[in-house]
Amino acid sequence: MKFSRLVVIAFFAPLAIGARIPNRRRQNNAFNPDSLSGLDDPTIDIENGAFGTAITAGYQGPMASYEDHALVGPVDLLRSGTVSFGVVSNITMPLYTSQSSTNATYWFIVTDSSDEGNARQLAINFAPKLRFAAQGVDGDGLTGAEQLAIVNNNIYGRVGMVDFSPVRKIVPGASTPFPPAFVQPGSVGDDNYTPLVQLKNAGYEVWNAPIIAGNVNDTYLNQFCDGIPEGMSEDFYSKVHDQVLAICPRTTTVTMKLIEGFSFGKSVLYLIADGSDPLPATLDGGNYAKRLSVVKTGDDDALFSGIERFFVNTNGYTNADLPPGAPNNETHHPWRQGLNSHILGDGDPLNILGAIPTVAYDYSPLWNFELFTWTNYSIANGIRTRMTGEFEVLGMAAAGYVTNPDGTPLSDAGIVNNCPIVHRNL
Ligand SMILES: *[C@@H]1O[C@H](CO)[C@@H](O)[C@H](O)[C@H]1NC(C)=O
Ligand SMILES: *[C@@H]1O[C@H](CO)[C@@H](O)[C@H](O)[C@H]1NC(C)=O
Ligand SMILES: *[C@@H]1O[C@H](CO)[C@@H](O)[C@H](O)[C@H]1NC(C)=O
Ligand SMILES: *[C@@H]1O[C@H](CO)[C@@H](O)[C@H](O)[C@H]1NC(C)=O
Ligand SMILES: *[C@@H]1O[C@H](CO)[C@@H](O)[C@H](O)[C@H]1NC(C)=O
Repeated sequence: MKFSRLVVIAFFAPLAIGARIPNRRRQNNAFNPDSLSGLDDPTIDIENGAFGTAITAGYQGPMASYEDHALVGPVDLLRSGTVSFGVVSNITMPLYTSQSSTNATYWFIVTDSSDEGNARQLAINFAPKLRFAAQGVDGDGLTGAEQLAIVNNNIYGRVGMVDFSPVRKIVPGASTPFPPAFVQPGSVGDDNYTPLVQLKNAGYEVWNAPIIAGNVNDTYLNQFCDGIPEGMSEDFYSKVHDQVLAICPRTTTVTMKLIEGFSFGKSVLYLIADGSDPLPATLDGGNYAKRLSVVKTGDDDALFSGIERFFVNTNGYTNADLPPGAPNNETHHPWRQGLNSHILGDGDPLNILGAIPTVAYDYSPLWNFELFTWTNYSIANGIRTRMTGEFEVLGMAAAGYVTNPDGTPLSDAGIVNNCPIVHRNL
């Protein structure tokens, strides 16, 4: 019966898309009325094509994406849940539970599958590269995925678990916020933990099933159906993933924060689940999942590669760089981007994702970091800007305006983050 609810949500997804547009529409010619939008997503305010014209909002027909998801306009990609748009957007989606190999209870979400038919059926992302990601192998013989069998419509006996008790901590660097002087991820997977499970009795397909809460019972979690009550945050985040805003076994749903970024010039929203390295796991608030580092990085779209590239800036503009007197009392620098800005609390780092579904075929939720830094020359001469697409970054890197943080030419940072795509704003 649970699945009938999923199907209904998926079926009505296009209506949900249409319904959000009026909320974000500005009056015909008014300047940015939403001081909180902070221009972090420059495309969101131009969804109203009537802006700057003499016609009234709503005069035009629907976005082209309504007819064909590859065309311009908003598209829900992870359709098993419902996105709520706000200063911090979120998604409410199905919550699953099972027992581990030691019969401990754990809670998880399902976001991607290498099986196209089942992905479509469950309204999750189709990610064919996950089949390859499952093959990576380390010195201990661990692969990228845990192999399990479906028994009575569930997967029991998972070995790798996550400890949610650590308190997430970032100490900014002394001269610049990035690199931080100290990081402690808020949740730490054991050596066996991987978000990927490979189903031995279902075609050996690979599923992205990150663990988002540890050994806690329904009664405890049902206190958080409407969010986290005042004063309970510390206890909550010692048992639950740092990106969770509400969790509700009673309605079998969980609400997670969404992060803003860009893919090929389109602003997008994605989820943060896990990171193979303590640094990004802490900066993003994901599980530190060391086992993900067995997935081979650096090969982008080559044969059998399991990853897709993800470009993370270190030293873009921060809000503190915005000179006084900005229009509309704006406090967000319109070109802010990167980890300095993120660590200073300006908002999401506005990372640049490679392919997402509907834009190309090579999407993988396992994003291989390339860290890029504006050179002193670029900063001194006003070349630094906000970039929103992979090919802009590659062009700037080829010309020498951005480099690795150590000044060498742009390359693989050897890090994998598990960040399932959720929504395309344009
Ligand atoms: C999700 O976002 C909506 C819109 O901003 C907000 O009203 C709601 O409170 C958020 N949900 C949670 C659980 O934080
Ligand atoms: C887990 O529970 C099952 C069913 O109750 C039982 O057969 C099994 O022995 C238990 N395993 C462990 C490791 O406790
Ligand atoms: C659920 O867990 C809490 C501790 O988190 C415990 O106090 C309570 O007794 C448990 N309830 C049940 C029904 O097991
Ligand atoms: C900007 O801030 C000033 C000083 O607080 C205020 O007088 C003015 O009305 C504000 N302008 C806008 C457009 O909000
Ligand atoms: C860039 O500027 C910083 C700060 O002024 C300085 O510490 C650094 O040595 C410069 N780097 C290069 C390669 O000149």
